Amino acid sequence: MRQVIIDTDPGTDDSLAILLALSQPDVEVLGLTTVQGNQSLEQINANATSLVNYLSLDVPIYSGSPHQSQNPVIAKSQRQAYHGDRGMGSLEIPPREELLAEESAVDFIIRAVKTNPKKVDILTLGPLTNLARCLEKEPDLVNELGQVYSMGGGIHKGKLTPVTEFNYGYDAQAAQSVYQQIGTQIPITMCGLDATYQAVYTPEIVQAIEDHFPKISELFHALFDDQIKTYQERESLPGCIIHDVMAFMVYYDPDFVEAVPLTAMTIVTDSNLVQGLCVADLEGRFNQVTNARVVMRVNPDRYFDRLMEAFMHLETHLP
Ligand code: BDR
Ligand code: CA
Repeated sequence: MRQVIIDTDPGTDDSLAILLALSQPDVEVLGLTTVQGNQSLEQINANATSLVNYLSLDVPIYSGSPHQSQNPVIAKSQRQAYHGDRGMGSLEIPPREELLAEESAVDFIIRAVKTNPKKVDILTLGPLTNLARCLEKEPDLVNELGQVYSMGGGIHKGKLTPVTEFNYGYDAQAAQSVYQQIGTQIPITMCGLDATYQAVYTPEIVQAIEDHFPKISELFHALFDDQIKTYQERESLPGCIIHDVMAFMVYYDPDFVEAVPLTAMTIVTDSNLVQGLCVADLEGRFNQVTNARVVMRVNPDRYFDRLMEAFMHLETHLP
């Protein structure tokens, strides 16, 4: 059974990714670690506990430490337009504080990885703050990690600005140190905006969810109805993009991935305007050490087929 830690900042798209991951029979989620990003850490923690509680599970949640972004663009970005006031659209599920462990996110990640060297994968759905702090505390952890999958960045696409993405823009220093320290040993599989924008949740997809999965359908509408409007209005798309769910699927069942080149990537940290910008050496011009496998092309039909299969397990787990 594959073991994974999900590092996350729920977040509408994080929420669905977490529920999906928690309900798959062949993945063991060892814990959720939380990170400030889409909301304050306090709200993120409450959201995470409510999601685990929703499935009546006891998966522990380990809190990160508060971290305000140093990126001046973040302060001006409008998170609530995409995630709602509390980060989960209009979904309201009671939190369950007892699920919050005393151990910190960083200590838990270090402990879990050391307990089972090279077997524990990390899936990051938020800023890379926690992983960077793990490396500060325990630089050798790099030799014991399993695979790292990360939603963030974009090579030819931005969203926070036309060229930067939220997770890597929120804590660009962390992203850069994770790619330089971990990626050069075990390339990080990056599922960024290049990939996620290839799977639009069109009215046909939403209809298919309604037809086959009544419980998920209710959840989906609560999480994403407002967001669908936002994507239509701001980006002229026929539906929303659910970034973190694709990142989970890249980890879980990646047969829909068609191009994932190995490349050297640098994340810009020293700019006010474009902190988090991903510069990938896709053509190998600079002879740098490779550190990333970037999901560049997916087959959207196969993606949605695989997702619907994963949804079957979630549907049976929902109350
Ligand atoms: C990423 O930013 C967050 O707002 C989402 O949850 C996702 O992880 C997409 O850019
Ligand atoms: Ca997220």
